[in-house]
Parts: sequence; C-alpha cells; structure tokens
Amino acid sequence: MILAGRQIDHPVVLAPLAGWTDTVFRRICKEFGVGLIFTEMASADALVRNRQRTLDICRFTPEERPIGVQLFGAEAEIMAGAAEIVAALEPDFIDINFGCPAKKVVRRGGGSALMRDLDAIQTIAAAVVQATPIPVTAKLRAGWQEAVAVEACQRLQGAGVAAVTVHPRTQKMGFKGEADWRLIGQVKNGVSIPVIGNGDVNTPEDAKRMLEETGCDLVMVGRAARGNPWIFRQITAYLEEGTLIPPPSFDERLSLCIRHLDEQERYYGARVAVFNMRKHISFYLKGGERVTQFREQLFRQNDIEQVRASLVQFQQQHTLIGITG
Ligand SMILES: Cc1cc2nc3c(=O)[nH]c(=O)nc-3n(C[C@H](O)[C@H](O)[C@H](O)COP(=O)(O)O)c2cc1C
Repeated sequence: MILAGRQIDHPVVLAPLAGWTDTVFRRICKEFGVGLIFTEMASADALVRNRQRTLDICRFTPEERPIGVQLFGAEAEIMAGAAEIVAALEPDFIDINFGCPAKKVVRRGGGSALMRDLDAIQTIAAAVVQATPIPVTAKLRAGWQEAVAVEACQRLQGAGVAAVTVHPRTQKMGFKGEADWRLIGQVKNGVSIPVIGNGDVNTPEDAKRMLEETGCDLVMVGRAARGNPWIFRQITAYLEEGTLIPPPSFDERLSLCIRHLDEQERYYGARVAVFNMRKHISFYLKGGERVTQFREQLFRQNDIEQVRASLVQFQQQHTLIGITG
C-alpha cells in the first residue's frame, strides 16, 4: 500500500519499543520482512535542549526505510521545535506518541496523559504538521480511563495527521487485560486516513484476524518481536501466500543471537553491547533447555569474547545432544 506517498511493501509494522528497537534490532527485523518501522520514543524536551543522546535515538540507516521517528512531549511549541530538529534526518514520517503510560512520561503531561485532553492532542498534532513537510502519524491508546480514541482520531485527521496507530487499552490498563480490537474497527469506520491496528498480535493467525475483524490497513507487532524477528516473516508469508512457516529451531535462534551481539558490538562497542544484549539474549533463549543456569552464568560475564564463546558453546552442546527447541 501507499501511505502518505511512501510505498509499504508488507502489511506488518514494527512497534516502537523503548530500550529494544534500536537501529541494530530494527535492521534485523527489516531482513525478516517488516513493512514499516518506528523508532522508540524520543523526548521533544530533550531534543530542543540539544541532547545528543536523544538525537542519537532518532538516527537510522537507509535500509530501515520507510521509518517514522517517534516524539513525545506535552507542549505544542516544543513538539514542533523537536519535529524541525528530526526533520533534518529526513525520516519518512514523524510519529507522535499519545499512548505511553509510563509514570515518568505522564507525570509531565505527555504520552497517554494527553488522552484526557483532546483539544491538546489536536493542537499538538496541528503544530507538528505545520512544522515540517514530513507526513505526521500518531499512535494512541484507547483513552485514559474510558475509550475516546474515535473522537481523538477524527480530530487528528482534522489536524492533518496522515495515519493513526491504535493500541486499544486505556492508560489505566497498562499492559493488563485484553486489547479490545473492536475499538480499532470503530476508529477505522470513523476516519478516512489509514489505521494501523496494534495490541496482542502474537501469531500470523492473530495478524490475519485483526485485519479481517477490524478492517485496519496494517498490523503492528511489539512484544512478540522481542528475540523473535521471525514473526515478521511468518506474518507476511501467511498474509501474502497463506503459508504457515514453522518457528525457528533453537539453533537458528542462537545463531541470530550471536549475530545480533556482533552487530551491537560494531555499532556501540564491546562494553555497551554486552550490557544492551542481556535483555535480547534472555528472549532469544526462551523455551530452550537448561537455559536458567546458563543465563545466570552468562550475565556475570562482562567480556564480550567470553559472552560470545559461551553462546557458541551452548549452541554446540544443544546441537550435539540433538535439542533443537
Ligand atoms: C518495553 C516496551 C517499550 C515500549 N515503548 C514504546 C514507545 O517508545 N513508544 C510507543 O508508542 N509505544 C511503546 N510501547 C508500546 C508498544 O509500541 C505497543 O503499543 C504495545 O506493546 C502493544 O503491542 P503488542 O501487544 O504487540 O506488544 C512499548 C511497549 C513495551 C512493552
């Protein structure tokens, strides 16, 4: 499909996941057939205060395109200023975060706190749209306490937003309970801009069901992609060819884990890579035999050569005894 002039090759989107979806992980997901990518959220306040580390969060490589850079903040003027700053990186989209439930974000009036004030949502969106020629998208939750996403999306459309992502949980729900997909369908019926459905897509069958039940244009996958970029290949194969690709073997998971470590080292250097990779490694190892003890030992190691050697050895032991996950 074409989204605001950009070609999207596959109907599956990588969600912004703070602390997870850095450029290294995003490039891996892209190899597995993700159609559209968003960066993790970046603080508009920090960007306008010229914090280089925040600008680094927004950086991406050409192979990640099409990509949206996500901003959060509570004030229209600051969000517009931040949009001008990230526009210099020439992302395909600038995405506004109206969904984050984290205390440190909502305390300052950003993320899902804005779902209590639809006028503010509209003002912020209009300011960001005006700030640069780059198409603006927005990602929101159902609401703060009750579902207001339909009216919110109508107002966003009115403000010139090119597409919306709906995660149909309220702020109060956090990540508990079930995402009520009916709300995605209601938003789809209430607006004419493309709608990206999000929430609890964990399998190819879930992706198909979400598209069919809600009529949304694209599906977004977040938590299920951690340690599992294969999910994107599985979803695209199922949606586009009706084929169910079996999950990767444990051997394949470890091979990718080791490559992910190598690429982290190339991008960040050894020390940061060892630290960053711990969470990823935990997810790549999920479901393997004798993982708990191995992980404990591994996470005591700070030297990247040791970490790499331990992963290779663990992989060989599993291959030798024929455990394939
Ligand atoms: C660790 C973590 C970090 C997240 N970071 C962001 C973020 O930076 N921006 C955002 O809009 N949503 C963020 N989310 C929400 C996800 O993008 C997504 O909406 C949510 O996880 C529901 O989708 P899922 O069921 O596929 O995981 C985050 C979620 C998790 C679990």
